[in-house]
Amino acid sequence: MQDFANKRIVLGLTGGIACYKSAELVRRLVEHGAAVDVVMTEAATRFITPVTMQALSGRHVWLDAWDARPANNMAHIDLTRGADAILVAPASADFMAKLAHGMADDLLSTLCLARACPLLLAPAMNREMWGNPATQRNAAQLRQDGIVLLGPAAGDQACGEVGDGRMMEPLDLRTELAAYFQPKVLAGRRVLITAGPTCEPIDPVRVLSNRSSGKTGYALARAAREAGAQVTLVSGPTALPAPLGVRRIDVQTARQMHAAVMPLAAQSDLFIAVAAVADWHVSNASGQKVKKNAHPGGLPALEFAVNPDILAEVAALPGGPWCVGFAAETENLAAHAEDKRRRKGIALLVGNLAQDVMDADDTALVLFDAQGAHPLPPADKLSAARRLVAEIAARLPGRR
Ligand code: C5P
Repeated sequence: MQDFANKRIVLGLTGGIACYKSAELVRRLVEHGAAVDVVMTEAATRFITPVTMQALSGRHVWLDAWDARPANNMAHIDLTRGADAILVAPASADFMAKLAHGMADDLLSTLCLARACPLLLAPAMNREMWGNPATQRNAAQLRQDGIVLLGPAAGDQACGEVGDGRMMEPLDLRTELAAYFQPKVLAGRRVLITAGPTCEPIDPVRVLSNRSSGKTGYALARAAREAGAQVTLVSGPTALPAPLGVRRIDVQTARQMHAAVMPLAAQSDLFIAVAAVADWHVSNASGQKVKKNAHPGGLPALEFAVNPDILAEVAALPGGPWCVGFAAETENLAAHAEDKRRRKGIALLVGNLAQDVMDADDTALVLFDAQGAHPLPPADKLSAARRLVAEIAARLPGRR
């Protein structure tokens, strides 16, 4: 995954203990293909050395508005021309105040004022500084000026206090910066996604389930949110963290998933059913652990009942969301997928071969719609999810 291939990012550091996280941030950006020009304020150099930032970025670090190296002696202008974004992380309360008032008394603040590219800030400060009405006023002004604020996060602070004001973690900042560059093809849309397996109890310690890591559904939730949608993810048990900015509702069984999905579906523009929902549940599940020798021959007599078909029910809702289904098949993908698309009454069904995709990080999707089959190139699950979001957005009818 090279989210920042051919991208040049100006990374500004201002004075704050979170500067130590910026070393990791540079590394994570470079790892995904970015060229990173680091600019540090004098206060930032008190917390981390320019040598560290130079070694990690592999490029010269800029400290001084009077740096004579640019031929025209205009480092404050040269550095942002051709840059894809400026990210200031950490952004101190003082730096935000300066920006809000258009002040330009050092290289970084001058670069920000003279920029011709987007500016993103990752505020980092003590919780009282963040909560101070002056900082809040400045934050509101900066947002109004079109500057993007990432975080701050809440939690333990270096000063020993707990609250809002921590800098977002480097990996989360990278995720947010990558999201910033994605086209906003689902802006303002409400998207509901199911993901993962369901687990149907046999007794309190045994379940009937499907093999599903949840990776495809979670990647789609991330991709839809990156595209500007408001995303709710109804998830069966997985080992994955909720994607940033996505509301996750945890469920165990198909009937719980059904109960969570139906009221939300009516308020959604788009429903994407990725979950590997168990087709049956055990209708005589035991309230106590079934002992191995409790039944003749050691075999318990399980009785099954059919689970609700969540996708088919949502697709049948009058005025309901536009629906996308998934089908993981082990053979005859095209025939099974097209049959499923018609049976469920949906416009788009995404097929893949179960043996290729389970637990894997890569996937090869085939779209089935009224026009036929459209294979997408094999890709990692996030790239495939972004491509799928673009395909869905191109087919999605106008706002309801
Ligand atoms: O019915 P089948 O499992 O073959 O279809 C798969 C598609 O239907 C997937 O999109 C899956 O999430 C959805 N589904 C559902 N509720 C079920 C079974 C499948 O929403 N009970």
